[in-house]
Amino acid sequence: MPMTCLAIQLEGAFHVGNLVLRELPLGELAPHHVRVAIRAASLNFRDLLMVRGVYNPKQPTPLIPCSDGAGEVLAVGANVRAFKVGDRVTTCFFQDFCSGEATREKMSTSLGGPIQGTLRTVCDFLETGLVHTPSYLTDGEAATLPCAALTAWNALVEQGNVKPGQTILLQGTGGVSIAALQIARELLGAQVILLSRSAEKLRLASAYRLLGAIDTGATPDWSKAARALTPGGRGVDHVVDVGGADTLQQSIRALRPGGTVSVIGVLSGAKTELQLTPMLMQNLRLQGVLVGTREMQLRMNAAYTSAAIKPIISQQFSLAEARQAFAALALGAHFGKVVIRVDA
Ligand SMILES: NC(=O)c1ccc[n+]([C@@H]2O[C@H](COP(=O)([O-])OP(=O)(O)OC[C@H]3O[C@@H](n4cnc5c(N)ncnc54)[C@H](OP(=O)(O)O)[C@@H]3O)[C@@H](O)[C@H]2O)c1
Repeated sequence: MPMTCLAIQLEGAFHVGNLVLRELPLGELAPHHVRVAIRAASLNFRDLLMVRGVYNPKQPTPLIPCSDGAGEVLAVGANVRAFKVGDRVTTCFFQDFCSGEATREKMSTSLGGPIQGTLRTVCDFLETGLVHTPSYLTDGEAATLPCAALTAWNALVEQGNVKPGQTILLQGTGGVSIAALQIARELLGAQVILLSRSAEKLRLASAYRLLGAIDTGATPDWSKAARALTPGGRGVDHVVDVGGADTLQQSIRALRPGGTVSVIGVLSGAKTELQLTPMLMQNLRLQGVLVGTREMQLRMNAAYTSAAIKPIISQQFSLAEARQAFAALALGAHFGKVVIRVDA
């Protein structure tokens, strides 16, 4: 049993340049904890915001970033029943939010802030903070699921109740949007209109037989273009809004009467002015989504397994290259997920 682990820690001020590789001692394994050898972690935009001090400027450091990881059980505490040594496991974003309504307490159990995260070779998790990894997935692929994919699943399936043939508008080609694209096309039989700032990324996404691909550089009035792609120009059924400030008004404009915007991200900022009249005159719904519960993750994993969905990894880095991985995410050239091979 290892006595120490290697970890990437944010030390001192919030800045990607303050991520350092350290050897840290491992304590006693607590009765309700599972000790896991992490093989892969994935980055979410949230992790970048956390390291930059934007997500929670009061987050104490040192902090081990990242919520998403997958690996193998090394040991279990005396009271653990759900896992055994050798099991392949994936983290849950919330360590203690298994099901039911959100509460402040449950939502304060997220990994990678406030709880120390997955960018390390060995980590102890609550039994409630892990699920078994679907056997057809590699650890790298499994590590892409806990935050981005579960958020997309929650938006479209658990809360969105999207039906076959409905039209979904997705923004950009990062972790959440590409997971939503896969869920929409490979599981739900929904139609997708995809926005991107990159013609090359839209070309890559064409393998999913899109209803429409809109280059937002060339078509800044994309809500009008999206509506024009729907039957009779009525508007889309559901928008997964990751842009925030600069996109929300257009997301609302793209909807059909009775349609839904899942409010998920703040890539362009978190403050905006909205025209409220269309909201009531057209019976629209704005639904905030914050990742999902462990039960949702189990349902998502079962659905992924039934359709053998392979998450899309765009770039991989080693643990020692963590700063480069964060820089790559910030650059935004990825299509799908950025993964860190912890065992490399
Ligand atoms: N609420 C939740 O539970 C939850 C969960 C996960 C993520 N999020 C949030 O959702 C957002 C996306 O997260 P992610 O991890 O998927 O990010 P990501 O992997 O970094 O992907 C972002 C992609 O969106 C596009 N983009 C970048 N800036 C944009 C902008 N200003 N306006 C519109 N599109 C832009 C880019 O795609 P193109 O190059 O193709 O344009 C970029 O690759 C973030 O704000 C994140 O904090 C929220």
